[in-house]
Amino acid sequence: MIARLQKPAGQVEELIYGQFIEHILTCISGGVYDPHSPYADENGMRGDVIAKIKQLAPPVMRFPGGTIMCQYHWEDAVGPLEKRIRRPNLIWGGELDPAFGTAEFITFCRKVGAEPMICVNMASGTPEEAAHWVEYCNGTGNTHYANLRRSHGYAEPFGVKYWCIGNECYAEPDIGMQNDVQIYVRDAMEFIKWMKLTDKSIRTVVVGCDDEQWNRTVLDKLHAVTDYLSYHHYSAEGGMGLYGPFAGEKALRSKVDDLIGLIGQYPETVTDFSPWYRFPPRQGPIRLALDEWNIWDFKPDETYGLLQTYNWRDALWTASVLNLLISTPEIGMANLAQSVNVIAPIVAEKDGNWYQTIAYPLLHYRRLMTGQRLPIAFDSPKVDGGMVGEVDAISLSAVKRGDGTVAIACVNRDFANAHPLALPDLPAQRVEVLLLDAALPLDTCSAQHCCVREHREMVSFEGSITLPPGSVLFAQFAPISSEQE
Ligand code: AHR
Repeated sequence: MIARLQKPAGQVEELIYGQFIEHILTCISGGVYDPHSPYADENGMRGDVIAKIKQLAPPVMRFPGGTIMCQYHWEDAVGPLEKRIRRPNLIWGGELDPAFGTAEFITFCRKVGAEPMICVNMASGTPEEAAHWVEYCNGTGNTHYANLRRSHGYAEPFGVKYWCIGNECYAEPDIGMQNDVQIYVRDAMEFIKWMKLTDKSIRTVVVGCDDEQWNRTVLDKLHAVTDYLSYHHYSAEGGMGLYGPFAGEKALRSKVDDLIGLIGQYPETVTDFSPWYRFPPRQGPIRLALDEWNIWDFKPDETYGLLQTYNWRDALWTASVLNLLISTPEIGMANLAQSVNVIAPIVAEKDGNWYQTIAYPLLHYRRLMTGQRLPIAFDSPKVDGGMVGEVDAISLSAVKRGDGTVAIACVNRDFANAHPLALPDLPAQRVEVLLLDAALPLDTCSAQHCCVREHREMVSFEGSITLPPGSVLFAQFAPISSEQE
């Protein structure tokens, strides 16, 4: 297989490495936050889990849902602990622990080095309540909610830039009355007005989905006041055999293409925006926010299959989606759902924590695959995916890093065959290679054992490298001059 590198085409958007925490099972309570744990830090947060998240270095973190957004009233979970309001978690079961509220979320974001992203309750909340949340977080004046934040011990504003206007509001089974798109756009406009009048600088994310008519109506009405169109994707094995999730990834690629076609129909610069709105319109093009993505093998039991164990095949899927995110500048943000315990790369148990397979590509992509995007053209050989038909064997992405080195991330989803990869645009040289694989595609990690093998070596590159079966391979090449580009 031959892959041709093209000229650098803009920076890779770092926000594609974002994550998400929700009040769902043990993601927050017991995962991120557990004041009774021997690992609890001075804020009652799991120091050991925070250290693991820090290694993954998410630049943005979404909270508090997810579907829990439908019942979430932020004022329940701010201020003195004894005055906070504890409610049943109507969506995921158990109780909604108010001890981890807005200020704790911000503290958590600061600890892991992420920008906060908050999703507001459109289902049982009001535009005014959402605006008060913006004021509590970002207010700098001598006003009620800014002063409330100060009275809770936070003199400096939290500076929350990213705000999701509802979550999956189209979902008829969820609480909420905005599953009719006309009602969603009417209400979302009202939320955005209240919130932007409170802080003109915030960036908004509106709800998109698989339904083209929904997306078109949302953008027709809201394109001038929204920065991102959200899209959620969960692939599944779904009984489709070894290659099942890759069919999901193929569907995601095609959906992303459709969405790019759609957002491209709206002007990059908004011109005819009435000054009577009293806040500026969107600046720059609308971008996609893949603000929930992962593999989720849903099961109709009380945990909905959310405590998912990932195998090595799933990690190849994760790497393939990261290649898509790196290669697609129209995707302005992505949030792996979720960070801990619930469909997550990190499992936190009472006596420690460990990485699932999917954490390993995340770690190395975050470390190596930033800088300028190098489009890479190739025609992948196919692999027989059985029930899901033919699947591309190879997925690639490439970047020119800040120090000029070229990094190429290669996924070989063919579990039976190695594939040679010819890179005629790169000169012969010694190359640093990092290979990730596992003994078997369905191998999993546990607290006792990590199935992922990492192998580093310097190899002689003479125009081609070999991609071993079922592997992720990163190759780092010496800086290329602008003539070579
Ligand atoms: O991430 C789990 C759930 O999946 C989220 O709460 C919801 O937004 C999505 O359907």
